[in-house]
Amino acid sequence: MSLLDLNPDELLSTTRAVRKRLDFDRPVPDDLVRDCVKLALQAPSGSNLVTMQFVVIRDQAKRQAVGQIYRELYANYKRSPNYPGNPTGDAERDRVQAKVAASADFLGEHLGEAPVLVLGCNTGPNRAAASAGLSNILPGMWSFMLAARARGLGTAWTSMHVAREREVSEILGIPYETVAQAVLTPLAFTKGTDFRPAQRPEPDAVIHWDSW
Ligand SMILES: Cc1cc2nc3c(=O)[nH]c(=O)nc-3n(C[C@H](O)[C@H](O)[C@H](O)COP(=O)(O)O)c2cc1C
Repeated sequence: MSLLDLNPDELLSTTRAVRKRLDFDRPVPDDLVRDCVKLALQAPSGSNLVTMQFVVIRDQAKRQAVGQIYRELYANYKRSPNYPGNPTGDAERDRVQAKVAASADFLGEHLGEAPVLVLGCNTGPNRAAASAGLSNILPGMWSFMLAARARGLGTAWTSMHVAREREVSEILGIPYETVAQAVLTPLAFTKGTDFRPAQRPEPDAVIHWDSW
């Protein structure tokens, strides 16, 4: 599989949350998933102990079951104050957020239709350790998403399924007492590969030089 012609800055600035442009009809070869995990494993991990784990969900019934949980949780989220579709009074901000909301709404309905779902987890000797070390999966998961983008695959970071983590564990046979879940993403080829940098705050809006 060839890589897209993206330099590092282009890769970092165009790895978007892809939802409507996921190609649900095109299968994702296992070897591509393996390549992305191989790169993810280069990410840092506490004590140099690799505790990140990836559950790759290809089975249709399991995808649908996880997708249904996500659908129900998303329906609750739509009624919450954090929902990006809620008007803020700032017309420009509302215009951008309405697009984000429409995109997120789509995934709310269709997550289980992606050819693959990937669930990033952290394992430990017990539940407390697995949860306390959850940040170990985060750099790996982002590397996974960057590697996916470089291969023409789209992802979207989601985490709301953790509100029903136990049920997701049961569907997937994940040992709940020693494995904590963090990130759930669809994985599919994207329809087209042209993605643009998003509008973000200026760096100085979030930098604190020397003190807060
Ligand atoms: C911690 C975290 C949780 C997120 N949870 C969800 C989610 O549950 N559903 C979803 O559609 N997107 C989720 N996102 C993705 C953001 O909504 C996405 O980054 C945002 O829409 C901006 O899009 P962009 O990254 O393409 O610029 C999450 C992102 C992060 C970092």
